[in-house]
Amino acid sequence: MAVKYRKELDSISPYVPGKPIDDVKRELGLDRVIKLASNENPLGFSSAVRKAVIKALDEVNLYPDGNATVLKAKIAEKYGVTPEMVLPTCGSDEMVDLIAKTFIDQGSQVVLAEVTFPRYFSTSQMMGADLRIVPMKNMAYDLEGFKQAITAQTRLVWLCNPNNPTGSFFTRDGLIDLLEHISPETLVVYDEAYYEFADHPDYPKDSIELMKRYKNMLVMKTLSKAYGIAGMRTGFTIGDPVLLELINRIRNPFNVTLLSQVAAIAALADDDFLVKIIENNNQGKYYLYDAFAELGLEYVKTEANHIAFNAGKDGALVFQELLKRGVIIRPIGGEKYKTWLRVSIGTMEENREFIRALQEVLA
Ligand SMILES: Cc1ncc(COP(=O)(O)O)c(C=O)c1O
Repeated sequence: MAVKYRKELDSISPYVPGKPIDDVKRELGLDRVIKLASNENPLGFSSAVRKAVIKALDEVNLYPDGNATVLKAKIAEKYGVTPEMVLPTCGSDEMVDLIAKTFIDQGSQVVLAEVTFPRYFSTSQMMGADLRIVPMKNMAYDLEGFKQAITAQTRLVWLCNPNNPTGSFFTRDGLIDLLEHISPETLVVYDEAYYEFADHPDYPKDSIELMKRYKNMLVMKTLSKAYGIAGMRTGFTIGDPVLLELINRIRNPFNVTLLSQVAAIAALADDDFLVKIIENNNQGKYYLYDAFAELGLEYVKTEANHIAFNAGKDGALVFQELLKRGVIIRPIGGEKYKTWLRVSIGTMEENREFIRALQEVLA
C-alpha cells in the first residue's frame, strides 16, 4: 500500500531552476559556459559583503538572531517604515510560500497573471486555491483583465512589477486604479524583485508609500537581483504589522542565516554598488534590443534585468542548441508561448556571446 499524500500535489511540478554552469560543462564537455538563465547579477556583489561575511564566519557556531533585529532596523530606516513592518526571509521565495500557507484556504479565489513568477502558481495550488488566471495583453499584465477577474470573494492577488519573465511593467496610475478596485479584505501581494532596474517615469517607485495607504498590500523585495547575493538567500517584505504577525507565526525560527543577515546589512548599505549594475543593465538592454531587431525578432521592452523574445522557432529546441554552444538561457514554456525565451542581461561580453550563438542557432 502506497503512502498517502496531499492530492493538491498532483497538479504541481517541481520548480525547474536555471541550469547550473557546472552541469552543462560536464554534460556537454564544454570549457566555457555562460549562464543568462536566472536573472542573477553578472557583476557580483559589493565588496562590503565579503568583508562582513568573513568577519561573521567566526560566529557560525551560534544560531542567528531569529528576529533579525539589526537587519530589520536597517531595512526600516532605509525604507522609512518601522521594524514591525519588515519581515526578512530566506529569499523572497520563502515569503511566497509563507504567504500562500498563511492566507490561502482550500477553494480560496486567487487571481494571477498567465505568464508570471511560477511559484505563485505552485504555492497557491499547494493550498488548494481556485486559480483565476488573467491572460497577458501583448506579453504584459492586463490590469483591466485583473479588475474583471477580481471579485469580493477574491482572497489574494499576486502582482509582479516589473514582471518575471516578461520584463514588462505596469504604471503607478494603473496600480492605484487596481488597488482602489480591490476590497480591503483581499490581500494584494506586490512583488518588486526587479524594482532597482526599473526607471520608466510611470513605474511606481513609491510602492512603500502606497502600501501605507493600502494596508492590504504586502511589498516583497529581494537582495538576489540588483544587490547580487542570490546565493545568500535573502529577501524581505514590508507591510502592515498585523499581516506580518500572522506570517511570523509559521515562519521557521531561524529562517535567515547568520551569514545572510550580515551580508544583507552590508549590501543594503552600499547603494554606490548599484550604480554600475544599473549602467551595465541599461547598456546590455539597448544592445540586445538592437541585436533582436537586426535578427528580425520580436521582443518585449524590459524594466528588469531580463528580456523576453520570440525566437520564431520551438523555444525548447533553441534552448538546447544554445546550450551546445555554452549559453544557458530559459524557454518561457507553455503551448501558447512555445517560441518565446527569456535571457538575463549579462556583461557586455556575455551579451555578445549570446547573440553570436543565437545567430548561429537561427541561421
Ligand atoms: C519575481 C520574483 N519573485 C521572487 C523571486 C525569488 O527571489 P529570491 O528568493 O532569490 O529572493 C524571483 C527570483 O527569480 C523572482 O523573479
